[in-house]
Amino acid sequence: MSFLGVLFIFVAIGGPVGHAGSFISLHCSPEVNAQYGQTSVLGCKISISKELKDPRITWLSWTKEGVEEPLLHYKEGKLKAEPGYSFASPSWSTSMDVSLRIANTTLQHEGEYTCGVTVNTVNGEETSSLIVTAKYGTPTISSRPKKITLNSGGTLECRASGGYPEGQIRWFDENGKEKTEDAKMSATPMDGGLFQLSSRLTLQKRSISSKYNCTVFNASGGLDGEVTSLPFIRPYSEHKSPEKEPQPAAYKIVTPLVVIGSCIVGLLLALLVCRRRTQQTQIDVSEEDKEAAEVCDSAPSRIESVYFTTATFTFSLQED
Ligand SMILES: *[C@@H]1O[C@H](CO)[C@@H](O)[C@H](O)[C@H]1NC(C)=O
Ligand SMILES: *[C@@H]1O[C@H](CO)[C@@H](O)[C@H](O)[C@H]1NC(C)=O
Ligand SMILES: *[C@@H]1O[C@H](CO)[C@@H](O)[C@H](O)[C@H]1NC(C)=O
Repeated sequence: MSFLGVLFIFVAIGGPVGHAGSFISLHCSPEVNAQYGQTSVLGCKISISKELKDPRITWLSWTKEGVEEPLLHYKEGKLKAEPGYSFASPSWSTSMDVSLRIANTTLQHEGEYTCGVTVNTVNGEETSSLIVTAKYGTPTISSRPKKITLNSGGTLECRASGGYPEGQIRWFDENGKEKTEDAKMSATPMDGGLFQLSSRLTLQKRSISSKYNCTVFNASGGLDGEVTSLPFIRPYSEHKSPEKEPQPAAYKIVTPLVVIGSCIVGLLLALLVCRRRTQQTQIDVSEEDKEAAEVCDSAPSRIESVYFTTATFTFSLQED
């Protein structure tokens, strides 16, 4: 709670300054929450009692702890301002609203500021703290390996950057069950002091939820952003293998018949040739003798070649 709700509430701690009479008092917001990159205002107002006739600011100075030169300095009609600093109210000298405006707030602006004034001859002084926060950008999820399936396991990485102060990344599974304890988070300072958060969630094989949700919380536990991983798909091997295209029944029967038939025909032809040769050699026992023997010897290989030819033929039929 502490500093959160206290923007622009002016608290009088300054009390009366000066001799005995409480002529002026300075009221500044003790704590101001500013957004990184935005304009912020440190609110300060001077209260002047009625007894002080013709009040006039004669001297004013806004300083920051650790910075030597005043950010804003006024004395006897002369105003000097550092770049980026100005009075929030253009009519400050008459309205007595001496709030400090900071353009384009960065982390360097965080700290304790002091406003000192002199009205006529009465002095006053007050301090104000500036607290800068930056909202984390929309988180993004990446995975390793690129394609995670329900039974593969892997790592999901969630990143969110540009926030301040250090926040937290939490993970939830499909059923809203927190999985942050399976993850490892790191916060890296970027340029300008803002943080990049990165969290790696290890997914155990076989206990993967179909999707995960990465949520980014700021330092005070407020939700800054969230993103959900794409649902993981069921791996291919767990799908039913698609049924083979049924072949026409007639084709199934015809194919072996062709093969067997061709073999028989080939075999018969070979035997016929051999027998005829043998008969011839009996009649005319001459040179043809050797030749016939050779032909018959080669009969088995002929049968084989017939078989192969048929098989090739059948194969090409099936391919079609
Ligand atoms: C604000 O400050 C940042 C860092 O100094 C700078 O990069 C950015 O350009 C500034 N923006 C404006 C609007 O001045
Ligand atoms: C992420 O999970 C939290 C906790 O279960 C839930 O509140 C939130 O709606 C979820 N966000 C998305 C985008 O699913
Ligand atoms: C966190 O977020 C809440 C809600 O958006 C906001 O009110 C609060 O100021 C933020 N706090 C910080 C430290 O950023």
